[in-house]
Amino acid sequence: MREILESIAREFARMAAEGEDLVPLTDESVLALKNLARLSAIDSAGSPSGERRKAEAANHQVSPPPQTRKKTTPPDDPPVEEINFVKRIDIPSDDGFKEQASKVRIVKKPSQDFSIAPIPDPKPFQLPEGDKATRWEFLKNLVLSDPVCSEHLKPGKKVVFGTGNLNAQIFFCGEAPGADEEIQGEPFVGKAGQLLTKIIAAMGLERRDVYIGNIMNWRPELPTSKGNRPPTEIEMAYCLPYLLAQIDIVKPKVIVALGNTAVTGLLGPDPTRRMGKVRGTWRKFHDADLMITYHPSFLLQYASNSMKRLVWEDMMAVMERVGMEISPKQRSYFQHG
Ligand code: URA
Repeated sequence: MREILESIAREFARMAAEGEDLVPLTDESVLALKNLARLSAIDSAGSPSGERRKAEAANHQVSPPPQTRKKTTPPDDPPVEEINFVKRIDIPSDDGFKEQASKVRIVKKPSQDFSIAPIPDPKPFQLPEGDKATRWEFLKNLVLSDPVCSEHLKPGKKVVFGTGNLNAQIFFCGEAPGADEEIQGEPFVGKAGQLLTKIIAAMGLERRDVYIGNIMNWRPELPTSKGNRPPTEIEMAYCLPYLLAQIDIVKPKVIVALGNTAVTGLLGPDPTRRMGKVRGTWRKFHDADLMITYHPSFLLQYASNSMKRLVWEDMMAVMERVGMEISPKQRSYFQHG
């Protein structure tokens, strides 16, 4: 539970570092966070803190020791009729960050229980001999039938596996399925996905020309059906072997890491890393060149035209790296206004 809170805190820190001065939270999200904080307190009182697992995940090992902790459920609290508290947000100012407080009044009771099943070691597996399609089918079946992935789904929702061209030169790697993806069982089909599809089209490609996958195969759980949170390092470590196997099958020339979670999942955590600094840079990842860029949902929520231009420059760099021609029209996208 603590990992979830830490991962949310990291996400807020990242947003602040990228110039966000406001975190819009619905009452429902605030309640979800309060519920999480309460569970975290129960968790740390009732089980080892998980420091060793965190350190292992930080070293990017994919075999944390088995989690012996049982499912935790919040105790029955007396119904919360009304809560008054102060929400504090760090906002950038000329002389550093300053705290802004606003009074929040909530008159709802958290209606849902929230428990997360333990995440064990990733199970070792071997892809069969054969062509790409054979190996990919095997892997897809393995992931879709993985009981750990399924255990973290809300009822009726789906595990999400990568999709696209198994001979693609470009492999887009996102974070985790969202609400639309877990319904359809396809990556990037919601609003962010539609923007990604437009970006791909602007490059002169279709979705079927590229491969699209995620760090996570399930949508990280929250007590409510609304809202997303970034995955914890333990969650990412569990799914990472599945992503690596997809990369191994497709053998792309370029991997595009979409956003901070994709970068963290692929390269490992680095608290000093700032998306604003690493965006637009190349790394090596296994046999592929890795381009770091912003996540489409970040563009949807916060981006100005100049930020869209930055992402577009990254995409032109990707096109050049795979030997695609860039037309004068393409070069001029987002240049003005
Ligand atoms: N965001 C992601 O990172 N992946 C998806 O599949 C959808 C939204």
